[in-house]
Amino acid sequence: MNLLVIGSGGREHAIAKKLNQSPLSETVYCIPGNAGMKLDGIQIKDLSLDDHDQLIAFAVDHQIDWTIIGPEVPLFNGLADDFYKNGLSVFGPSKAATLIEASKAFAKELMVNQGIPTAAYQVFDEYEKAKAYIQAQGAPIVIKADGLASGKGVIVAETMEEAQKALKEMMQDNKFGESASQVVIEECLAGEEFSLMAFVNGENIFPMPISQDHKRLLELDKGPNTGGMGAYSPVPHISEETVAEAVKRILQPAAQGLADSQTPFTGVLYAGVIATESGPKTIEFNARFGDPETQVVLNRMESDLVEVITDILDEKDPDIKWKTTGIDLGVVVAAKGYPEKYDLDILIEPTESEDTITYYAGVKEKDGHLYSNGGRIYLLEACGESIAEAQQKIYNQLNKVNSQKVIYRKDIGDKAKRR
Ligand code: AMP
Ligand code: GLY
Repeated sequence: MNLLVIGSGGREHAIAKKLNQSPLSETVYCIPGNAGMKLDGIQIKDLSLDDHDQLIAFAVDHQIDWTIIGPEVPLFNGLADDFYKNGLSVFGPSKAATLIEASKAFAKELMVNQGIPTAAYQVFDEYEKAKAYIQAQGAPIVIKADGLASGKGVIVAETMEEAQKALKEMMQDNKFGESASQVVIEECLAGEEFSLMAFVNGENIFPMPISQDHKRLLELDKGPNTGGMGAYSPVPHISEETVAEAVKRILQPAAQGLADSQTPFTGVLYAGVIATESGPKTIEFNARFGDPETQVVLNRMESDLVEVITDILDEKDPDIKWKTTGIDLGVVVAAKGYPEKYDLDILIEPTESEDTITYYAGVKEKDGHLYSNGGRIYLLEACGESIAEAQQKIYNQLNKVNSQKVIYRKDIGDKAKRR
């Protein structure tokens, strides 16, 4: 089969690599992809994700059997709908179903209608009303831009000053552009966070092992939120009962709610969950694979990803096997200064050993070498019998990297070790 992956990050590298390992796949293309993917035999093609006609023409010309769309923006721009209208098979939700991620207000309404546990909240499009609500609720409190903001439009404010500053930046200073013309203000939940993803076809869901992202830039979860600095899977200190409850009370009713409102979901549905004292509660949905969770979770899969997705697209129940022992862990290497201002053109030193896998993200090729051209450059992945062993494999390699120009967290997975 010829398969197409849309996107250019580490998540897409992990998906494309896994597809390429299947005996069923002939050629795996990635648009626009990144130069690092070529090391794994993935064919990249630099086309604009905004030009749907050109993407459709590419899929037709290259006899693509099906396409998987990695990032949220093309999904929200209706790329899956346009492929589908042209008779092309695609594993990814329609624009309408993508609203579960693209509008936090839509997601909250779905959760209320379906009785899905989540933080108490209110939606505002007027600054003064939002300000008064924050004043009345007190801190800590969470302020979220309604629309897509690359994981950065969420402020967990510990103090009233922080909360009012964040609100002003969103609603008056336009720091997050249009995505924050409407804001959701919600109760701050306390507990361990985990990411729960499932393959979904309408009301049928096939959960993956859970993982834990590290969204803050700095060790001990300090510093600003980022696109994710590392992840591991499974999360040993979250009980099987909690996961089962989250599947039953969060993912299942979400898929059901979308199916019931004539916007059935096809693709990967992701729930960001906090295990609170009163059970798992939802903090967000994504309409796609998580990044960097995918780079560790797909390494837990023993089945053939091509077969799994083909089965789902054929409306058959896939038989998915996962590793039952060990831990997969990944550490993101980013340019110093990320997520604000950072240098490009950092020469990437080879880091791979036989114990680790590199998933490239913001990289380009120049004179036969890889250089950075984004904030998150690559993720180094390893599997160990324990968190400590996986960490050791990764940090052994990263210790050899000249860290003048890059940063990475040295505590990915430590939370699980502290238990
Ligand atoms: P999101 O983009 O919605 O995942 O939010 C980014 C991060 O903010 C999450 O990973 C959480 O750590 C935190 N967060 C979001 N909503 C809440 C909440 N209601 N209570 C506590 N923390 C939250
Ligand atoms: N890791 C969080 C996300 O993909 O949105």
